[in-house]
Amino acid sequence: MHVGIDALGVAVPSSYIDLEVLAKARGVDPQKYLNGLGTSRMGVAPLDEDTVTLAARAASMALKSAQVAPDEIGLLVVGTETAVDHSKPVSSFVQGLLGIGTRCRVFETKHACYGGTAALMMALDWIRAGSARGRKALIVCSDIARYGLGTAGEPTQGAGAVALVVSENPRLLELDPSRTGQYASDVHDFWRPLYSKDAFVDGHYSVQCYLDAIAGAYRHFKELEPGVTANDFAALAYHVPYGKMAKKAHRQLRELEQDPAPDASFEAQVAASLVLPAQVGNIYTGSLYLALTSLLATSARVLDGQRVGLFSYGSGSCAEFFAGTVVPGAQARVQALGLGALLDARRALSIDEYEAVMRAREAADVKPVEANAADGFRFLGVESHKRTYVGPRA
Ligand code: HMG
Repeated sequence: MHVGIDALGVAVPSSYIDLEVLAKARGVDPQKYLNGLGTSRMGVAPLDEDTVTLAARAASMALKSAQVAPDEIGLLVVGTETAVDHSKPVSSFVQGLLGIGTRCRVFETKHACYGGTAALMMALDWIRAGSARGRKALIVCSDIARYGLGTAGEPTQGAGAVALVVSENPRLLELDPSRTGQYASDVHDFWRPLYSKDAFVDGHYSVQCYLDAIAGAYRHFKELEPGVTANDFAALAYHVPYGKMAKKAHRQLRELEQDPAPDASFEAQVAASLVLPAQVGNIYTGSLYLALTSLLATSARVLDGQRVGLFSYGSGSCAEFFAGTVVPGAQARVQALGLGALLDARRALSIDEYEAVMRAREAADVKPVEANAADGFRFLGVESHKRTYVGPRA
């Protein structure tokens, strides 16, 4: 049975902060953010956009692209680490906003940035096991990454969502969930206590934990596929908290194979996957899938029919290295989504506007916000302790 990603959708907030502007405001050399970290712009969600609205917009685009009706979805999972409620999952809000039918398994998964990959693997197995009975899965990765003003993590924030329609005979990427390399380790590299909206991170340690995880997961993958080397992949997409991290990951992977020039293959195998992430920042669960989207949308090389390697990392930690085959026609399908125009339509915030949004977000859960519902899904505020949203269906 052939299973994998049939279609995808991407959502980014309607505003962003330019990292050159942020660097100047923080008294930092802009080259540190632009080249040292590899990020140019960071998505910033205004108060009427949140994890739910981003998820709903990405999911809506994915369903349209696949031409799948809401009642064809039998499994709807949202992977997120920035959920909006301790009990009611983001997926239930998405179900309502999109009109997904009642005969559907609907829930949320959490394991830092790995939560979406956990859901994807589960969906692939659900189809292979025969439980789908012809229905499709909708896997949505949605997050708002926040470390807070003036922190070392501040230039590695971001916001966005990627939705994947997962099915039999996929039209984008065929995947084999029986041969994936895994690595899990109980570490305190990055966490967000229940009482905090901002994440805490042991930054340099988290980089080392990520590198240990890719080494462990890739070694496991190579045991499952003896003889495979990094040269067997036309391209590689990594989890991208910031572009430089993907560069470090690639070097680590190549060094495991005693490559004497571990950076030499970076431009050909990895660079295209970083074009979109550099404009959006870290989107946590969706980060790897935005890198994959970027690869398919911007690679000048023909990837159709080629094998690509994928690495997912979630702090805490759990990681997975797996491979997929690009289905002929996939690049054209992703290019047709018009993601460049989506990014160009965003509004640049001044540093004062950015800081005001960051501060106001603390109160946005309880104070109804003035929503601009003109173009789709919006958060309206909280009434009687219930979050309310508006969408095109309402
Ligand atoms: P920092 O201490 O501010 O920066 O923290 P730095 O001093 O390490 O500099 C960063 C890079 O810029 C270095 O490059 C510098 O040399 C360079 P490197 O040595 O690494 O190649 N640099 C310059 N380059 C050009 N011109 C200059 C200049 N100055 C310096 N003038 C850090 C950086 C990433 C640690 C911080 O931003 C942070 O803590 N971020 C959040 C944590 C993070 O993203 N960790 C990544 C791994 S963990 C992960 O990916 C999981 C995660 O997504 C969460 C989840 O799973 O849910 C985060």
